[in-house]
Amino acid sequence: MPGQEARGSMSNVRPPAVQHDGWPLHAIGRRASGKIPYMLPRQPGEIDRLDVQHYAFRAALRGNYVAPLTAPARVLDVGSGTGQWCYDLCEEFPEALVIGFDIEPGKPDWPANYGFVRGNVLDGIPFADDSFDFVHQRWMRVSIPVADWPPVVGNLVRVARPGGFVELAEFRHLLEPAGPATTRVFELLHELAAQRGLDGTGVVARSLSRYLEQAGATDVRADVVAVPVGEWGGTIGSMMASDLRSMITGLRGPFAWALGVPPDECDDLLSAALVECESHHTNTLCAFAQGRKAER
Ligand SMILES: C[S@@+](CC[C@H](N)C(=O)[O-])C[C@H]1O[C@@H](n2cnc3c(N)ncnc32)[C@H](O)[C@@H]1O
Repeated sequence: MPGQEARGSMSNVRPPAVQHDGWPLHAIGRRASGKIPYMLPRQPGEIDRLDVQHYAFRAALRGNYVAPLTAPARVLDVGSGTGQWCYDLCEEFPEALVIGFDIEPGKPDWPANYGFVRGNVLDGIPFADDSFDFVHQRWMRVSIPVADWPPVVGNLVRVARPGGFVELAEFRHLLEPAGPATTRVFELLHELAAQRGLDGTGVVARSLSRYLEQAGATDVRADVVAVPVGEWGGTIGSMMASDLRSMITGLRGPFAWALGVPPDECDDLLSAALVECESHHTNTLCAFAQGRKAER
């Protein structure tokens, strides 16, 4: 949108308090280019879906991250989506500069200490080494081909400062316990992902710690958080059921043209999956891994 593009100018994005020579915001406003295999739609309803997912996870996790942060001065969120995670961090750390990096800007009304840089993570991350106290990347297995994960995580660690934290969060392959319709819906998702070189087997969520260690991070820790899907899980579960409904509805088109699954069949599968989530007490599992860039 023209207004958002205008806000992407460097002078508007850099709060004066944190300006200094060499702060690598030169890429602000640059159009993302190159290969973008992202498999989810970028439509207005998707902003709502990602926000619902964000709030459900924040409630389940009782926070926005697992790393033991104190007072980070600079925070980077790669694949920042709606921007809500960044806006929360802006509020929690009002002295920090929080940068979102994505192929598209998120919601308007940015906090004063927020900046957005447009770019394609597969082309690299346009920041200098050692720039950030905290680098965060969440739910990007639908964006980053399996083969690109090691170099992408290498870049996340590169732009963290020595001693700074890098945190990754990705959904595990399947919901658990899952009924047959739920399993089928996720098989379709994985087939679509695999067609685009994205993770169709769950290898990414299983490899987060390894990616961090291979990139030179130390003190790497991993965890898995189970979040209910369905009314059986109260408010959080209800939000996650709405997230599932909205995501699969948004994929009716690709399921039809890429996999040959008619929209009616997709709708029936989704309805059955939502019923199963209630009877099976289904959870979605999110894998976290965090580490620190080694001190030199
Ligand atoms: C599933 S959303 C996750 C958003 C956010 N991390 C969150 O937790 O809500 C994936 C995001 O990655 C962005 N994206 C997809 N491909 C990208 C790429 N190649 N480079 C940068 N961002 C990308 C999308 O625009 C979208 O905002």
